[in-house]
Amino acid sequence: MPNAPELSPAARLEAAGPAASPPPAPPFAPWIPIRSLSPRHRERIAAHLLALSERDRYLRFGYAAGDAQIQRYVDGLDFDRDEVFGVFNRRLQLIALAHLAFPQPGQPGPQAAEFGGSVVAAARGRGYGARLFEHAMLHARNRGLDTLFIHALSENTAMLRIARKAGARVEREGSESDAYLKLPQDTLASQVEQWVGDGAAEIDYRLKQQSRLVGSLIDAIGEVRSGIGKQPGQAAKD
Ligand SMILES: CC(C)(COP(=O)(O)OP(=O)(O)OC[C@H]1O[C@@H](n2cnc3c(N)ncnc32)[C@H](O)[C@@H]1OP(=O)(O)O)[C@@H](O)C(=O)NCCC(=O)NCCS
Repeated sequence: MPNAPELSPAARLEAAGPAASPPPAPPFAPWIPIRSLSPRHRERIAAHLLALSERDRYLRFGYAAGDAQIQRYVDGLDFDRDEVFGVFNRRLQLIALAHLAFPQPGQPGPQAAEFGGSVVAAARGRGYGARLFEHAMLHARNRGLDTLFIHALSENTAMLRIARKAGARVEREGSESDAYLKLPQDTLASQVEQWVGDGAAEIDYRLKQQSRLVGSLIDAIGEVRSGIGKQPGQAAKD
């Protein structure tokens, strides 16, 4: 092949024509601390689920679960086999919660993990649902599973949108839909990503715990001071 004539870098740029516009920057997604939960969080998990409206319970569980049924579900969570994780606000209330259920050991058939999640009504539309789902994808992948599965009511537009956007294949059967997301194999990078994310979420939780402690200490000091400032005998009358 004949050699092309030498061109200066500027001439080469000009010859290449107008530069293709750079791909749009991905939308800014702030980091959301998602923390793994353990049996000692059962009370907070129950509080989150019991606060869901009747309709949300229907969407989450596939039926309008009553308080007793929710309590039984929470009591039966298997934290050794499954993963339960969530997002805490500054008051350490669970504003988003997910349950990633793993197949029983030795279970025949496809090795899929099942996702179920919920976000408190006041915090919806801020990306928590999608972030919980991404977290589930990463953890299921790192546990060696090749599929993430969601069973949702077909009317659950938000959940199915999250699944579709992540690349899941959605199979609709009347009022119910199943979504299957193929997961890539885990890599060193995916393991490190999980390790770093979990560590940072743990630090965030500890900081929130400490800030709550400092807040209660300040309140207590304030109460003691106002007690001291009162006329002798007045505090006893209050
Ligand atoms: C499903 C649920 C977890 C989504 O939580 P969320 O934090 O609001 O979700 P996100 O903010 O990540 O939004 C995800 C997508 O759904 C869309 N969406 C949110 N609410 C929607 C609604 N009511 N209708 C249509 N789309 C909706 C969002 O616009 C977003 O799409 P986009 O990324 O293209 O903008 C939440 O609605 C919920 O808790 N529902 C009740 C329980 C439930 O249905 N659980 C799922 C059963 S497995």
